[in-house]
Amino acid sequence: PDAEGNTITMIEHSGFHWPLFPGLSQRLVEDLAQFKARPDDTWIINWPKSGTHWCWEICCMLVSGKAELLQQSKVTAMYPDCAGNAEVEPIPSPRVLNTHATPDNFPKEALEKSKLIYTVRHPKDAVVSYFHHTKGIKFYDYERGTWAGFLPVFLEGKNEYGDWINHTESWLSLLDGKPNALILKFEDLKKDLRKEVQHIAEFLEVSRSDEFYDDVTRLCSFDSMKEGKLSGKDSDVWRAESPGVFRKGESGDWKRHFTVAQNEEFNRHFNERLKDTIYAKKIGY
Ligand code: A3P
Repeated sequence: PDAEGNTITMIEHSGFHWPLFPGLSQRLVEDLAQFKARPDDTWIINWPKSGTHWCWEICCMLVSGKAELLQQSKVTAMYPDCAGNAEVEPIPSPRVLNTHATPDNFPKEALEKSKLIYTVRHPKDAVVSYFHHTKGIKFYDYERGTWAGFLPVFLEGKNEYGDWINHTESWLSLLDGKPNALILKFEDLKKDLRKEVQHIAEFLEVSRSDEFYDDVTRLCSFDSMKEGKLSGKDSDVWRAESPGVFRKGESGDWKRHFTVAQNEEFNRHFNERLKDTIYAKKIGY
C-alpha cells in the first residue's frame, strides 16, 4: 500500500519489484540474464518515465534509415524484460531494445557487445510522470491513488525497478566513459532535439542527410508523437480517462505537483545521498 492505503499491484522477485504486466513472470525476469546480445543491438536503458518511447523512436529511425513513427506496434520489442527472449530473438537486426532493469539483471554479454544509451530525467519530473503512469495503467489497480500517497513510495525506493538513486548511480558508474555507451539527458532533448538527434546518430555510427535529421526531429516532437495513430492511449493498457504515455512532455511539471513541504522532504532525502555521486558531478540538477 502507498502512504494513503491505496495498493499498487506489482510482483516481487530477486529482491526487486517488477510491474505486473500481463505475461511478465519470474521466468521472463530470469530470461533476461540469458539474453543473446548482438553487436548491432541498441539498448535504451533508464529508470521508467525518462524518455524511453522518445529515444526508441529516434533510434529506430536512425538505424533503419526510415523516417516513420512506429509507436506502440513494436511495444513487445521495447521490453525484453516483459516480452521474453523467445519474442525478441526473431526480430531482425538492427534491433532497438529497451529495459528498466538494473545492471545486476541486465544481460552481461550486451554490456560489452552492444550499444547502450542511458537516459536520465530530473527525478522530480520522473516521479510525477510515474505517478500518472501508475494511476493510468489498468494493471496496477491504482485508480484511487493520490500524489500524496505515491511520493513516499518513491522516496522509500519501493517503486518497481527500485530506488531511483541506486538505479541511476549504478548505471552511471558502469557506463560513464565506456566507449559503447552514451548518457543522455531528457532535458537536453527538450532543449535542442535536432542537435541531440545528430549526437545520437554519431554515437550509433550512422550518417544520414540533413533532411533526414530534420524529418526525425519533426516526427519525434511531442505533438507529433502524441498524435501518432497508435498512441499508448489507444491500447488496452491505459484507462480511458488517462492521458496515456504522452501526457505533457515537459521539464519542470513537478512544480505543479509538489507542495513546498514535499519539495523540502524530497531535497532532504536526495541531497545528502547524492553528494559525491557521478550523477551529481555529471548531471547535476
Ligand atoms: P510526462 O508524463 O511528464 O508527460 P517513457 O517513454 O520512458 O515512459 O516516458 C514517458 C514520458 O516521456 C512522458 O512524460 C512523456 O510525455 C514524455 N515524452 C515522450 N515522448 C516525448 C517527446 N517527443 N517530447 C517530450 N516528452 C516526451
